Amino acid sequence: MMEEEKAMDFTVACTGLAKGAPPDPCVVVIFGVAGDLASRTLIPALYALGCQGLLPEPFAIVGLARREWDDQAFRQNMLEHVKQQGGFRADAWERFAEGLYYVQGDLTAPVSEGYRTLQEKLGKVRTERHLPGNILFHFATPPALYGEIAQKLAAASLLAGDDGWRRIIIEKPFGHDEASSRALDHQLLEVVEETRLYRVDHYLGKETVQNMLAFRFANPNFEPIWNRHYIDHVQITAAEPEGIGMRAEYYEGTGVVRDMLQNHLLQLLCMMAMEAPLSYDARSLRHETVKVLQAIRPLDVRRECVLGQYGAGAVAGRRVPAYRDEKGVSETSVTPTFAAIKVQLSNWRWSGVPFYLRTGKRLPCKLTEISIHFKPTPHLMFPIEAPERLQHNVLTFRLQPDEGILQTFLAKQPGPDICLRPVTMNFCYERTFGIEEPPSAYEWLLLDAMQGDQTLFPRSDWIYEAWSIVDPLIAQWEAQPFADLPNYAAGTWGPAAADALLQGDGRAWQVV
Ligand code: BG6
Repeated sequence: MMEEEKAMDFTVACTGLAKGAPPDPCVVVIFGVAGDLASRTLIPALYALGCQGLLPEPFAIVGLARREWDDQAFRQNMLEHVKQQGGFRADAWERFAEGLYYVQGDLTAPVSEGYRTLQEKLGKVRTERHLPGNILFHFATPPALYGEIAQKLAAASLLAGDDGWRRIIIEKPFGHDEASSRALDHQLLEVVEETRLYRVDHYLGKETVQNMLAFRFANPNFEPIWNRHYIDHVQITAAEPEGIGMRAEYYEGTGVVRDMLQNHLLQLLCMMAMEAPLSYDARSLRHETVKVLQAIRPLDVRRECVLGQYGAGAVAGRRVPAYRDEKGVSETSVTPTFAAIKVQLSNWRWSGVPFYLRTGKRLPCKLTEISIHFKPTPHLMFPIEAPERLQHNVLTFRLQPDEGILQTFLAKQPGPDICLRPVTMNFCYERTFGIEEPPSAYEWLLLDAMQGDQTLFPRSDWIYEAWSIVDPLIAQWEAQPFADLPNYAAGTWGPAAADALLQGDGRAWQVV
């Protein structure tokens, strides 16, 4: 009885979100606050932190955009967005909204204009809410403005102060190739040190990504088999059923390699492949992820990379247009919307183990997962149908939907004969922790930035390495794109060549 009670206590303590402490009082300044990122993601994420008691007290948000809003209009507009996220709580909103302020301004204006108004507003807000000089500047603006804004903030003496910390958050893309990302850093690092610069890759804030680290480095049983002796290959898939929506202007100049592969997918690869960091801190973790990228062999663009663009088709039973027919896209566009590549690492742990990465728009469903395919048993004493297919144990980290970790293995089906069948053990967030959907990645990343923790933010050298891996692929495509575009129908798993990439190695993409 006693034992049973103890077990129950443990279960109760493990459900819901773990508690955390709020950061020190601060002001978050959001540039481009009327845009999609700020209103649909950042403000709702900050509000959600407020609901969990994770915002500091006192706290304020100062939004800046060109729109002719005042504080009230700003609050009203943000309320609409927050309500759309579901789980709205009027009392929590009231408290949160009191700390929302607005400045109308043009970030490209001379320092003496826009930035002076911001300075005055910050002074007023800080006095009104008794806030110290801790300020987090979030650039939710077109990336082309990052350098200029940072330089102007510095000229307006807003990036330094004896009365608190000043930090900057910027969003990807960080340049469009290695050279431009270095040039951007050059501009930024003239006025702010690397230790105060937070580059967002929202995949690093996803619960399952952080759980991969816990899984690998808090549990001793997988480490001995986490290498070329036991692992046959790894697949990383980030599939989206959506097209490009209203983002044609951005996407036309970006394409899937810059949008997803250079950042999110390579980060997932690093989490899977890195050596154990000395400790869970920014220095150790980022050091190890950079080493993974440095171990990647140059891509064989012709033989190991497949790019594609979607044509018309049907996704989830709904007809959708071809990429070239999307609003704002050129009818001769060669922008890729799908990529599949084979990556090989030259180090002791992974030599000879291929990592297959694929991502695309207008694929059949939303699915982001990393699956680790183990080598077959050296000698199987049981009779088994299709041994080459069934004998691979697979461990899957599923980021979305249905976050969790799944392990497949062979088990005996009840009956008189030995009949082996693949079965799955499934750790699922919802069932285990009673959380239907883990908090958004942005909540954790914003909180970390307020706390001064850079562990989940890529460092500049990681960004340069990541560009150096994909730059040859982009250059080759831009010089000589496939002539047969579109080469996959919306609602399918990409061009046939993506399947051939694995078939050539005697493998196949994991069936969803
Ligand atoms: C963004 C890309 O970084 O990630 C988008 O710019 C993409 O094109 C999105 O849709 C995918 O994020 P998630 O969290 O939905 O997988």
